[in-house]
Amino acid sequence: MKTSYWLVDKNVDTKHSYPQIQQAADLLKKNEVIAFPTETVYGLGGNAKDDDAIKKIFAAKGRPSDNPLIIHIAKQEQLAEIVEEIPEVAQKLMASFWPGALTIIFRAKKGTLSQYATAGLQTVAVRMPDHPVALKLLEEVDLPIAAPSANRSGKPSPTTALHVKEDLDQIIAGIVDGGPTGVGVESTVIDCTDLLPVILRPGGITKEQIEELVGEVGLDPALINKESKPKAPGMKYSHYAPNAPMFLVNGTKERIQCLVDEERNKGKKVGLLTTEENKSYYDADYIFACGKRAELHSVAASLYEGLRSFNHQDVEIIFCEMFPLEGVGQAIMNRLMKAASHQVMD
Ligand code: TXA
Ligand code: MG
Repeated sequence: MKTSYWLVDKNVDTKHSYPQIQQAADLLKKNEVIAFPTETVYGLGGNAKDDDAIKKIFAAKGRPSDNPLIIHIAKQEQLAEIVEEIPEVAQKLMASFWPGALTIIFRAKKGTLSQYATAGLQTVAVRMPDHPVALKLLEEVDLPIAAPSANRSGKPSPTTALHVKEDLDQIIAGIVDGGPTGVGVESTVIDCTDLLPVILRPGGITKEQIEELVGEVGLDPALINKESKPKAPGMKYSHYAPNAPMFLVNGTKERIQCLVDEERNKGKKVGLLTTEENKSYYDADYIFACGKRAELHSVAASLYEGLRSFNHQDVEIIFCEMFPLEGVGQAIMNRLMKAASHQVMD
């Protein structure tokens, strides 16, 4: 399949109709699937009401069919059609964090969405992305759009259109390139179907931000104890892993350099994921500085670029610094633990 490619201005001027966005919207209306930028990562969108469109998404990604998709909307009025009820706590969360990097799980209304989009569950995940291109596209289509991250299943999520191309060129109908995404990690997923809201996936909106607004919320036990079964089906799959084995190191720079040296002495090509503050200390075959440790948001923003870059460098083993579990650090460590298959060296 030929993949159309549209370069658009990140800050869509809504006074003008952008032919590129119009073309992308037309393809979505025809139940084709296209990638588009959001503030977190690029999404692979398709008409959430149409079985064929949703099947195309699962096929393009190679995604297991038991892993439901997030439904993207441009206006809160669109909720009435897809959810059974809007709990008070969800109202509050939407008022503060939408549009934004927060996905809310509601009880699903029967009969409107493709059952493939919700993987046959009684609940549905919804978010309103905070990106002018995504919002304009969603407005133009005027349909709920199911959109997982636009990567092949298991790979790091794409934060640039080039990442999408690496994974899905010639496989999907189009890519809207609105430049690099800002947040860099996916949305926080919070289940609001029970009395106590529970975070199923840490992401762009932090637990601290949420609790400041609505009081204490729960954390899916699977986020802390890897033996528990995750409540978000997607969280059980291995994800984000570079081709080479990766190890998180809970130790000093000296300790990390020691580990690097040991592997290099064995003749291995060693990669290292560090931060701007520390990069000049190290000596390794390939070093990626992932933002500034003092500004965890900058680490989140370049995390997936970093994970992807190891594959281009053909390193044979990767060591990685750890990050505090504060703020967006929760999401960063969650993704790194998955990328490293939970291998931590003390
Ligand atoms: O930032 C994001 O959320 C990006 C952009 C494109 O919006 N999307 C994204 O989608 O990360 P995806 O499909 O890669 O991750 C969706 C996660 C999966 O872990 C899935 O299992 C979970 O949300 N999920 C979806 N519907 C659910 C439901 N009804 N109950 C529990 N978990 C659900
Ligand atoms: Mg994903």
